[in-house]
Amino acid sequence: MNGTCLNPLPIGELTLKNRVITAPMAGLTNYAFRQILSRQRPGLIFTEMISAQALVYQNQKTLELIQKPPQAIDEGGFVPLAVQLSGSDPAYMAQAAKLAAKLGADVIDLNMGCPAPKIIKNGEGCRLMQTPDLAARIMEAVVCAMEQYQAEENLTTKIPVTVKFRSGWDDESINCVPFAKMAENLGIFAVTVHGRTRQQFYGGKADRDCIAQVAAAVDIPVIGNGDIISPADAVAMLQQTGCAGIMVGRGMLGNPWLIADIIAVLSGGVPRGKPDKAEILRAALAHLRLQAAYSPNGDEMAVCAMRTHLAHYFKGMKHAAMMRQAVNQMKTIKEIELAFADWSAKE
Ligand SMILES: Cc1cc2nc3c(=O)[nH]c(=O)nc-3n(C[C@H](O)[C@H](O)[C@H](O)COP(=O)(O)O)c2cc1C
Repeated sequence: MNGTCLNPLPIGELTLKNRVITAPMAGLTNYAFRQILSRQRPGLIFTEMISAQALVYQNQKTLELIQKPPQAIDEGGFVPLAVQLSGSDPAYMAQAAKLAAKLGADVIDLNMGCPAPKIIKNGEGCRLMQTPDLAARIMEAVVCAMEQYQAEENLTTKIPVTVKFRSGWDDESINCVPFAKMAENLGIFAVTVHGRTRQQFYGGKADRDCIAQVAAAVDIPVIGNGDIISPADAVAMLQQTGCAGIMVGRGMLGNPWLIADIIAVLSGGVPRGKPDKAEILRAALAHLRLQAAYSPNGDEMAVCAMRTHLAHYFKGMKHAAMMRQAVNQMKTIKEIELAFADWSAKE
């Protein structure tokens, strides 16, 4: 194992305590889940992608999306927060970055990898890999906005700007290496490369070669992303690509403990492994209650918002499909508590 894996990871003037980063995931990495993730002590936590335009218009729901967990009171101190912005208008992106910084963002990340049709249609997300001139103008505008913000607020350090993108649009247009070099030249402090094309969406296998090529081509930290669902995957990603850090997405759904396990293995320790069914169900309920505490319309909204997370917690358990269907019909936390108690008693 490469010894540098144990070291902190500098991103500009910010130093991450370790090299394990939680991915931005729309609809999932909200305030409640970020609190749960922060207890696993990753080096950096991402929000989900936030529309720059909605942030500029101070949409209340959007402001909540970037709220920072109360990590200062959490053991082990503070885990920095990366706010990820999506958009295609350099001026909006710059303005949104300043607002996010004011609201406490420690890193501003630019989404240039989202494959969703509604995002692509607006010229945002991965479409920007096909319009590198516009991507460059966005990067420049946001880097410049952070320089202005530092001067305006008299800050001693600059908030780093990072970019997350894919290997390319499709197999015929893999351009992650020139894209990363362009980002580096424009003052971007780190890049995350998801080793899939837009055409692949989330299917197939993530290509580690692309990530290795980017890591060899630039001097800024490269974060490798795609298909890390075990500590061994994290080790393989670091070893095979020479990337500086790793980002975990789907693997942490229903299994936030994976983050602490990866950190343990990278530190030469022993992973604890996924807890038993009783502990997972207790954690799922605690997650649900946390979600309810931040849902303005109470239980029903929280239960609905938690359906995907609950399905992930159930994965691999006996009767998981039946439980998933059952909770999808439920409206209150009480009903779910009773169903869990019943389910636990069955085996
Ligand atoms: C449901 C879902 C939502 C996602 N939302 C975002 C997002 O808001 N911003 C982003 O950059 N990537 C987003 N992604 C991509 C992930 O951050 C990550 O790049 C991808 O899932 C590959 O990593 P993994 O194999 O570890 O899941 C999303 C992925 C999924 C499955």
